[in-house]
Amino acid sequence: MTPLARERADFEPSARREGRGVLEARSDPSNAAGGRKPRAQAQRGHRLGSRTFASDNNAGAHPAVLRAIERANRGHVVGYGDDPYTARALAAFRRQFGDAEVFIVFNGTAANCLSLQASTRPYHAVYCAEGSHVYTDECGAPERLTGCKLVPLPHAGGKVTVEALERAVHGEGDPHHSQPRVVSITQATEVGTVYTPEEVRALSRFARERGMWLHMDGARIANAAAALGLTLRQATRDLGVDVLSFGGTKNGLLGAEAVVVFRKELARDFAFLRKQGMQLASKMRFLAVQLETLLTGDLWRRNALHANRMARLLERLVRAVPGVEIVYPVEANGVFARIPKRSIRRLQERSFFYVWDPGLGIVRWMCSFDTRESDVRGFAALLRKA
Ligand SMILES: Cc1ncc(COP(=O)(O)O)c(C=O)c1O
Repeated sequence: MTPLARERADFEPSARREGRGVLEARSDPSNAAGGRKPRAQAQRGHRLGSRTFASDNNAGAHPAVLRAIERANRGHVVGYGDDPYTARALAAFRRQFGDAEVFIVFNGTAANCLSLQASTRPYHAVYCAEGSHVYTDECGAPERLTGCKLVPLPHAGGKVTVEALERAVHGEGDPHHSQPRVVSITQATEVGTVYTPEEVRALSRFARERGMWLHMDGARIANAAAALGLTLRQATRDLGVDVLSFGGTKNGLLGAEAVVVFRKELARDFAFLRKQGMQLASKMRFLAVQLETLLTGDLWRRNALHANRMARLLERLVRAVPGVEIVYPVEANGVFARIPKRSIRRLQERSFFYVWDPGLGIVRWMCSFDTRESDVRGFAALLRKA
């Protein structure tokens, strides 16, 4: 492998991981001609110790989470989740969501894949937005692990609609067709919008009437629930969600997510699927205490509200910059804007972020639990000069 090829190989997966974001530097040949290497560019705009708007999982971990890990680092406990720390974390989940089966996993892709695997057989179809993480950003893992067909739907502001489902869902009972089984939605969506409770309820009704399950990719469910002023339960189970990928990493954890199963029948084989899916942590206590910390004393809500507030401030400030257009309603912690293409590279060099749509010059800026008002004001000032 040539050094450049190796550099690309190193770099490209991380760009993809961030959603449909594609670095302008990678997709615009003029950048390559200019000799600027994408990785070097990302590193320049990503100075150690600074905070950027690249992604909410570029942020560190909340200090309370690190302290909890430190406190759990005493003596020996039984592995694989049969320990008092995990019992406490599961109890914290049940306080938030009511009686549910909860399975802690390492990352969000696994939470989604296992949720779908538990809900389907290989002859089923999963309906999702064409820009959804499960469809575009998981390297085909959901298809590989479930064997199912993922059916991409045109979306409205990142959302699956009942109208799109009505057009797409068909072939029930026909052995020539993948059988409709799951509607998968992302809350908050990949473009920073938030389904209203009525929208989720309508999707749930649609699913139920057709014998389908409603899966919610809640990598940012905290941001959505906080934005809606709802509890986690009100924003999920009470709206008819059957299985939830609960996100923690984007909201201040070092790295831990969970699948919350509201329908007991979907939980039956989950323990086996998780182990076979290589997601059963032996030192489970260290994942468990992170989730317990997030779900205790409303840290989940405080972190999310803060990130959402920072996004709204960023929106207000950048709206005032000539040539900037906000392209999706800012309802959670992300701002999507069209900015002059010549500004993108200059701004990225000072403070790295991902280009969502290089053709249209749409960029994505994410706020995190640790974004400071001064970061937002400083970034808006850079944009004014770029
Ligand atoms: C909407 C959404 N779902 C799921 C994930 C989970 O990803 P990971 O497997 O990187 O934790 C992400 C992360 O970018 C995401 O944005």
